[in-house]
Amino acid sequence: MTRFFLANFHIRNRLARERSAARFGRWCRDGMAFAVFILMSPALLKAAEPASSPRERLSFNSDWRFIKGDPAGSEGKLDYQTLKPWLLASGPEFSVNSALATRPQDNPAGDVVYTLPACDDTSWRKLNLPHDWGIEGPFKQEYPGETGKLPWWGVAWYRKHFSLPMSDSGKKVFLDMDGAMAYASVWLNGQFVGGWPYGYASWELELTPFLKFGGENVVAIRLDNPQDSSRWYPGGGIYRNVWLIKTAPVHIGHWGTFVSATVEGKTATVNLKANVENSSPAGTQIRCGAEVYECNAEGQKWGRPVLSFPPALLKLGAHATGEFATTGAVHSPRLWSVKKPNRYVAVTSLEQDGKIVDTHETLFGIRTLQFTADNGFMLNGERIALNGVCDHHDLGALGSAVSTRALERQLQILQEMGCNAIRTSHNPPAPELLDLCDRMGFVVMDEAFDCWLQPKKKNDYHLLFADWHEKDLRAMIRRDRNHPCIILWSIGNEISEQGSPNGPKMAGELAAIVHSEDRSRPVTSACNNGRAGYNGWQKEMDVFGYNYRPYEYGRFREANPALALFGSETASCVSSRGEYFFPVSTNQAQGRADFQVSSYDLYAPPWATPPDREFHGQDEFPFVAGEFVWTGFDYLGEPTPYGGDIRNPSFNNDTGKKRRRNTDVADLLNFTDPAERARLMKDFNEQGRIQVPSRSSYFGIIDLAGFKKDRFYLYQARWRPDLHMAHILPHWNWPDRIGQVTPVHVYTSGDEAELFLNGKSLGRKKRGPLDYRIRWDDVVYKPGVLEVVAFNHHTRWAHDSVRTTGPAEQLLLAPERTTLKPDGQDLSYVTATVADKGGLQVPRSKNHISFEISGPGEIIATDNGDATCFESFQAKDHSAYNGLCLAIVRSTGEPGTIVLKATSPGLKATELKLQVKADKR
Ligand code: GAL
Repeated sequence: MTRFFLANFHIRNRLARERSAARFGRWCRDGMAFAVFILMSPALLKAAEPASSPRERLSFNSDWRFIKGDPAGSEGKLDYQTLKPWLLASGPEFSVNSALATRPQDNPAGDVVYTLPACDDTSWRKLNLPHDWGIEGPFKQEYPGETGKLPWWGVAWYRKHFSLPMSDSGKKVFLDMDGAMAYASVWLNGQFVGGWPYGYASWELELTPFLKFGGENVVAIRLDNPQDSSRWYPGGGIYRNVWLIKTAPVHIGHWGTFVSATVEGKTATVNLKANVENSSPAGTQIRCGAEVYECNAEGQKWGRPVLSFPPALLKLGAHATGEFATTGAVHSPRLWSVKKPNRYVAVTSLEQDGKIVDTHETLFGIRTLQFTADNGFMLNGERIALNGVCDHHDLGALGSAVSTRALERQLQILQEMGCNAIRTSHNPPAPELLDLCDRMGFVVMDEAFDCWLQPKKKNDYHLLFADWHEKDLRAMIRRDRNHPCIILWSIGNEISEQGSPNGPKMAGELAAIVHSEDRSRPVTSACNNGRAGYNGWQKEMDVFGYNYRPYEYGRFREANPALALFGSETASCVSSRGEYFFPVSTNQAQGRADFQVSSYDLYAPPWATPPDREFHGQDEFPFVAGEFVWTGFDYLGEPTPYGGDIRNPSFNNDTGKKRRRNTDVADLLNFTDPAERARLMKDFNEQGRIQVPSRSSYFGIIDLAGFKKDRFYLYQARWRPDLHMAHILPHWNWPDRIGQVTPVHVYTSGDEAELFLNGKSLGRKKRGPLDYRIRWDDVVYKPGVLEVVAFNHHTRWAHDSVRTTGPAEQLLLAPERTTLKPDGQDLSYVTATVADKGGLQVPRSKNHISFEISGPGEIIATDNGDATCFESFQAKDHSAYNGLCLAIVRSTGEPGTIVLKATSPGLKATELKLQVKADKR
């Protein structure tokens, strides 16, 4: 089967399909002129019989069986190299440049028991998808901190038994995988179907030839996660959604529509292309039509069509594809923007022999975008500063298993900060993230790869690049091209080839692939190598992105006056929520103690900068289009600056490396508790190493549990200049610091502020032109109330205060939402606060909290945002970290009242009610 174009579709309910069929008939009755692709015939003008489209998109997530490891006797039959000739035949429609692989005749691993329908899998674990086996842990000290000290690697199998009715025979059936980590191979009823190695790709396999209609089928999926294949926590498993698609033999291909629009004055020209496949053995004529509707905020169409494209006839040979391409105008379009994310839906219909055989919906937006060298990024002709963040795909305590609500909550928190842009570092994201960005008004830089041919890790994507990069890149674009949120296609992050002589040529080849798929958005990459701005690499980019080089912006501009520039990755400031270490050093390499990093937001690894330095670069060179901060949320793995155990090289005489100076170690292992410090130094000297427990990053503006760190407010002050806000740091509980200098920093959207300690002014200060915080570095600590009054243009603007608390006495519970949908998926994130008698959060408290739940809800994870915590995310009890702890509650499926109770020895317990009901909010 030859399949060329892909479509992003959303099947609505039966009623909608029937309405659509009826509309198609109406065009015909009205006798509209056909755009003639092949021929016009009076016979074909006959009205279509109203009928529903046979297309169905069914969730395929429930009732899977799972087991770790391969069965005995399968050695040498299942590894990627053995299966590669068959795997390479998957997704031929994405391979335009390379020769198509021909699938060998025989059935690989057809005798491996797990692939066989008869395999007894009743003792395997039962579960629903999405699933990440790594997040279940346990954390182990000996596992790499770089990937979260969690066991995500290895081989595992998933099997699902399912039946299809006899009435489906004659239909085409496809398995759509949004993402499986990694090296997926798929068998159906013992027959090899295909697979896909890149764990971040979405892909489709056709099941039809191997299916039994009217009987039981068993699909078996083997995944294999090589160790040493990722620089962060990748997760393991079928961690995104899986779908079963049914269509008629004549149908719109996978990701087979592309809707784009241009705007001229008050009129938008909408171009629709649909790839139509005839997978039957006879040639046919198809009547293609499409209409455009406005959508509501949820993406559901409403009202009458705002555009009806002229229908067209398409003649298709047996087992052939064709394209329905059409153009129409929408007058006074409601443009998509970050403030008003208006969307439209194009409903494409195919009619064969008077019957609707496919109806397909494509959500899209009408907007213009332009990157300019002088004025940054323009959306609908208006400059928008990219106030962006980079994020990895894990959802903290939920691991990599995708959850729409968890993603939505992340975006809501980011939106509160003023963030308007997301970089999907360093891979294609879950489709749900892009749907949310479309709906909520974020622009997106969609990224394909973290490496090309040169490795970053021994077993990373470089092993796949030669065979798969074209398919993976085209698949990403065809899947995502209808999303109005996407403004940039990134062909890679910090690609090592930036510095090699062949690098620009390779970049050009990848850019050409992107251009051949989509000309409406620019190609970029994230460059950490300064030379990439001058060595020819930059000439292959439509827009240039520098990582961590705010001091390079001016020089780049002089050398490349016509090329738009942005900060593709910035800051990498490190901090731990609620930790402050003294004295406060302005050396960015300092600020470390207790395997934590001080929250004065002044610290960053050598290649990076504090946020203020990046702001300075952006303000000094306002032609820069904005930035994507590393990162919005903390993520599992990459716990810089505590990336691994600290070894004493004097214990290894073979390396010949310079001995680590004890002073470096002392800097890193500064411990506020002298006994702990002495113990670790003793280990270092006597056993040759210090074991570092860190398992998640310190880079997030927001911690792993979703609690805001101080610099949330630093970014908010800059990104929401109209919001009246001020934020003081640090907290004001320093019983050991009475009489000592304890610097106070204030983040505010105002331009001036006055600080008061116990009512006494410590001075009113103005923010300098390239200053982004107001500092009182000589405050002498005494307990009480620290207050700030911020001003803007001399008028009172905002206020904040922190006060010394009493001892911990009680627990408080606060849900981010009190009502959930009874769908078994909706979540409420509940924060438990350790508070004093008056309800103030006690800053350094680490009390252990137990949660109990009753009613139609379950606690699916707990966390506290501490990057060094080894407590299980699945446990129903968890210690607080600096006063806060999180419980994630999921509805189980029935309506009712959930009661969540929190207890902790010595503290007053509390409980909370959540409602589960269908007509939520
Ligand atoms: C960048 C890299 C990111 C992350 C970051 C940490 O160089 O692109 O993936 O590693 O450093 O600062």
